[in-house]
Amino acid sequence: MGFDTIIRNGTVVTAVDTYAADVAIANGKIAAIGKDLPAQNASAVIDAAGKLVIPGGIDVHTHLDMPFGGTTSADDFETGTRAAAFGGTTTLIDFAIQFKGQALRQAFDTWMKKASGKAVCDYAFHCIVTDVSGGQLSEMNDLVAEGITSFKLFMAYPGVFMLDDGSIFKALQTTSKNGGMVCMHAENGSAIDVIVQQALAEGKKAPKYHALTRPTTAEAEATARAIALAEMAGAPIYIVHLSCNDALEKVREARDRGLPVYAETCPQYLYLSIENFDAPGFEGAKYVFTPPLREKWHQEKLWNGLKRDHLQVVSTDHCPFCFKEQKELGKDDFTKIPNGGPGVEHRMSLIFSGGVAGGRFSANRFVELVSTTPAKLFGLYPRKGTIAVGSDADLVIFDPRRKHTISAKTHHMRVDYSMFEGIGVTGMPDIVFSRGRVVVEGEKSLGRPGQGEFLRRGTYAQVNG
Ligand code: URP
Ligand code: ZN
Ligand code: ZN
Repeated sequence: MGFDTIIRNGTVVTAVDTYAADVAIANGKIAAIGKDLPAQNASAVIDAAGKLVIPGGIDVHTHLDMPFGGTTSADDFETGTRAAAFGGTTTLIDFAIQFKGQALRQAFDTWMKKASGKAVCDYAFHCIVTDVSGGQLSEMNDLVAEGITSFKLFMAYPGVFMLDDGSIFKALQTTSKNGGMVCMHAENGSAIDVIVQQALAEGKKAPKYHALTRPTTAEAEATARAIALAEMAGAPIYIVHLSCNDALEKVREARDRGLPVYAETCPQYLYLSIENFDAPGFEGAKYVFTPPLREKWHQEKLWNGLKRDHLQVVSTDHCPFCFKEQKELGKDDFTKIPNGGPGVEHRMSLIFSGGVAGGRFSANRFVELVSTTPAKLFGLYPRKGTIAVGSDADLVIFDPRRKHTISAKTHHMRVDYSMFEGIGVTGMPDIVFSRGRVVVEGEKSLGRPGQGEFLRRGTYAQVNG
């Protein structure tokens, strides 16, 4: 049999195994895994000696080309997917937003247009549902049939994104029947809004007040309420961007009771803290996102949660706004700072570095957190998220020893600062394949806009039973 590419001499790492093998690619798929695969008919042979061969990363939480607070996130589907690929991430699940009064279909169509012809690697969508007063609950079933099998709901941002508990409960009853998944932004938005208004009235307008007006208790309360609503509806639930130990405890308790409750955290909550707001002048705006940064001691609790499977996924919540002109919209009032931070490029290296090189967990657990479990929870497995014959050849030749210092001067995201400026990591992608094509080789981007495909996903229930 002829192969397009053979990756020789690498160490294959999946969520469950680590072994020496060659990996052969044909027609965009993994065609064979074995010892000394015949190279005579292969078009290319790549030596991966000393390197890990891992499945491409799956980032299930990005916001490309997203309108927010009078501006739009700085990466579009071309620059965002290219930056993702530089970091070893080959699949993104972004969010199509239903604004109030709209049909869900309108959100889907709008975001398909944004991505079409631009993406360098594969992508899918969750649908953000902000209004279920029309026919949107039955539309959720239509979207599931079209491969949009998860829905983000907000318990924060009253008047913009927030849904009341009754609407959340109805949406959960819907996914309980159609097999999909609700992803929850869990913060008590009504209480937070009161605290925010009181802070503004006291003249507290600097960026750090964004964090100080969103207490961990507001996240823990909403997390517990979301879990209770899901339990009553008989539905699974996935808590997005979990930031603190208080909320983590609610997830852990629910999982201990055997409930299908899952949660992700993001690198910013593992590496940054409220101390970042000590940056001079208005620099703290670089760290304005929700939930906010917490006291430093939460970081180790979250790392431990990743190790012990109290947290199942690391995503980025990549939502970049340039410091100049975008974050500056809130120069005189923190509530006007567009919420979000850039991170899609560095997730894999930050988690490998802190997790595996840092001695907290195995390379298998790393793969599980950044690729395999995301694929399983969001209906992409086994097409994505593993290295197996027949799976898409989304592969990363990863150098576990290469060191890099993160900087806006060298990153590929279209944003003028890095949240992780100056942080050193150990472990970097060398070569990245998307469906068998090399999209990144060292510092070279070889991916073409438009070669990334929209992925129709299966449901949580189909993959997880
Ligand atoms: O501040 C954030 N996280 N911005 C993106 C929107 C969201 O809530 O995920
Ligand atoms: Zn959110
Ligand atoms: Zn988000």
